[in-house]
Amino acid sequence: MTDSLTFSTIPHAAPTSADARATLLEDPAFGRVPTDHMVIVKWTVEKGWHDATVQARAPFQLDPACAVLHYAQEIFEGMKAYRTAEGAITLFRPEENARRFNESAERMAMPTIPEELFLDAIEALVRVDADWIPANDGGSLYLRPFMFASEVFLGVKPASEYIFCVIACPVGAYFKGGSKAITLWVSDDYSRAAAGGTGAAKCGGNYAGSLIAQAEAMRNGCDQVVFLDAAEHRWVEELGGMNIFFVMEDGSVITPPLGTILPGITRKSIMELAQAAGHSVLEQPYSFDQWQADARSGKLREAFACGTAAVVAGIGEVRYSGGAFAIGNSGDGPVTTALRDQLVGIQKGKIADDRHWLRSVD
Ligand code: PLP
Ligand code: COI
Repeated sequence: MTDSLTFSTIPHAAPTSADARATLLEDPAFGRVPTDHMVIVKWTVEKGWHDATVQARAPFQLDPACAVLHYAQEIFEGMKAYRTAEGAITLFRPEENARRFNESAERMAMPTIPEELFLDAIEALVRVDADWIPANDGGSLYLRPFMFASEVFLGVKPASEYIFCVIACPVGAYFKGGSKAITLWVSDDYSRAAAGGTGAAKCGGNYAGSLIAQAEAMRNGCDQVVFLDAAEHRWVEELGGMNIFFVMEDGSVITPPLGTILPGITRKSIMELAQAAGHSVLEQPYSFDQWQADARSGKLREAFACGTAAVVAGIGEVRYSGGAFAIGNSGDGPVTTALRDQLVGIQKGKIADDRHWLRSVD
């Protein structure tokens, strides 16, 4: 299989003007402001990966029998490009996204993409839309690589044609409250994933299945839903779009083990940073009952959610059908703040990148 392809570029005929872009960049929120271009690479059984193009962002034309519309073979990634104070452009551990994308592809019976081609596609879009990367402190360019089954066929089988695409949006804070601690809703009725299912894959279907629980969370005045395990409805797993960490009074940091949760790249990075800062880091099951008891007794000092979109968000309160409890002082605790500052400092080039997590885009 070819590991790289030459990208042909057809620049946007009427890109957004510098003035209009500056206005859009003032407050882009999350995921609402598209950049001018997209990258597309096609795959067929006969040709493998081919036809790599950078082109104006435009709608797809899909036949009503396009396989993804019926059997949901779709996977995606979420990553960010940053503008450093010196004006350089960096990506944070993009090789990890390439690896996870291929793990998701395998789980969903889709073709894998050579890591080099995945990274070339990301870099091609970042280069052509570089002016869309916010330079302010909380801003970044959110990149959304995704792949879907494009074969026109209603038989139930892995499709024989796929489209890989990368789009981008300048973004600010994921939560409307900015850096205010978030409130979680514990879902009683719904699970996100079960053993043998697709919980560890970043497939669109996981999110479709989570939306009813997220809507319930929002109805209860919460920012995010937190899921418990499907088998016993006892163990904390993760949020609709983030992993979770607990900071205990003895300084240890607990996070649920991998298996049915998404193996977050932020999670993995936070684990390394916490360990280096002297915390003992435990990947171990933590029950909802224990969580309540520890929050009430003060044994639990802090909890935070983390992910590419949300970065690191302190959890102030947890609500459930039987009541609610607060965590710590209901705001960001010192460990949460220190880990976030370190992560963001590395991403923005303000703290030395000793672990070689950044990849610069020239
Ligand atoms: N869990 C879920 C369900 C997610 O959607 C995300 C976001 O991508 C994460 C965890 C965090 O993963 P990452 O840190 O790689 O963005
Ligand atoms: C991300 O953090 O990249 C995600 O995919 C999660 C979603 C909340 C946007």
